[in-house]
Amino acid sequence: VVAARGTLAELRRSHPGEQLVDLTASLVLPGFVDTHVHFPQVRMIGALGMPLLDWLERSALPEEARLADVDYARGVARDFLTGLVRAGTTTALVFGAHYPAAVDVLFTEASQRGVRVTAGLVVSDRILRDDLLTTPERAYDEGRELAERWHGSGRLRYAVTPRFSLSCSDVLMDSCGALHKDIDGSWFTSHINENPAEIAAVTELFPDSADYLATYGRHQPVGERSVFAHNLHASAAELATLAQARASVAHCPTSNAALGSGLFPLREHIESGVRVALGSDVGAGTGFSLLKEGLQAYFMQQLLGEAGLPLTSAHLLYLATASGAASLGLAGQVGEFSIGREFDAVWLRPVEGSTLDCGLRNADSADQALAKVFALGTDADVARVWIGGVEVSG
Ligand code: GUN
Ligand code: ZN
Repeated sequence: VVAARGTLAELRRSHPGEQLVDLTASLVLPGFVDTHVHFPQVRMIGALGMPLLDWLERSALPEEARLADVDYARGVARDFLTGLVRAGTTTALVFGAHYPAAVDVLFTEASQRGVRVTAGLVVSDRILRDDLLTTPERAYDEGRELAERWHGSGRLRYAVTPRFSLSCSDVLMDSCGALHKDIDGSWFTSHINENPAEIAAVTELFPDSADYLATYGRHQPVGERSVFAHNLHASAAELATLAQARASVAHCPTSNAALGSGLFPLREHIESGVRVALGSDVGAGTGFSLLKEGLQAYFMQQLLGEAGLPLTSAHLLYLATASGAASLGLAGQVGEFSIGREFDAVWLRPVEGSTLDCGLRNADSADQALAKVFALGTDADVARVWIGGVEVSG
């Protein structure tokens, strides 16, 4: 836990007996918070050239079906957590698998490594391939069993996770609402307003719903423990409802660009009062690095011209850390280095002679150094990572 802040000389004087770990080379940042990432998709990152629904059918879902084999799922969970930690991510809201044993394996591996994971069983009862479908009763029972085992155990929490309205009937959404209500302090996460073809199909399947958000909201309260991914094509009414509910939106810029989903209306979110944080959305996103997501978020706002919200490097750091912590209800605990916060941290130490190394040697302010980190930093520059003060290795 961060006990004091000050210059090295001051802290040396006030804490003379303490062991000194010298991290003065380069930068120490709060551990990154990824508010939307799919664990079963780590091995299929990089399937480029398709819009959302084709990408799901041809690339993502065939891989997700392989997680029916629990040994395969264990390997995937290990690859996934290694990827997260090596990118400097210490907290994540994770889309689990469609199979309870695979979600169990994810929680087991996360608890062994100490990563702060909120995750759940992904459920669907229509449209997707048959081997990914469940029933409302099974979804409730299997989710409840997982939540009873893992919710509140160490740093782990349960998230009720209907895949998206397109693949979830009203009855399944009802069972998700009941589970969210019955598991005290559980989270709720799903996708929303990502792609025009997806939105048109949802509108057709839910003719009585006012909008996409209402397909979720009529079954469970949308509230401060709800996180919706994407929301690229949101209406003013949906933004107002999200703001009033204090729900959060996970902005996933490399995914949005890779799938050609659209340009995120960040200004509209912020002006409506909706909290936004970053998500890698692996495997549609092109890697785990929230530095890359931050840079792509910046690009996207630049490309929006007058409609965009110009972002500084401090904004990018906020989106990748403190805002993510707040959207996951962990603002008092992690996401920054204030006194009393747990020490979740990333030591960025660029490879000697790399362009980032050169850039940092020639930065003349902290803001400038931070901008160079977002422009040039990669997983290779993450030298050490701590969660709750304990060093974790990928
Ligand atoms: N919508 C439903 N499933 C998915 C998914 O796996 N990735 C993305 N980006 N959108 C989705
Ligand atoms: Zn996603």
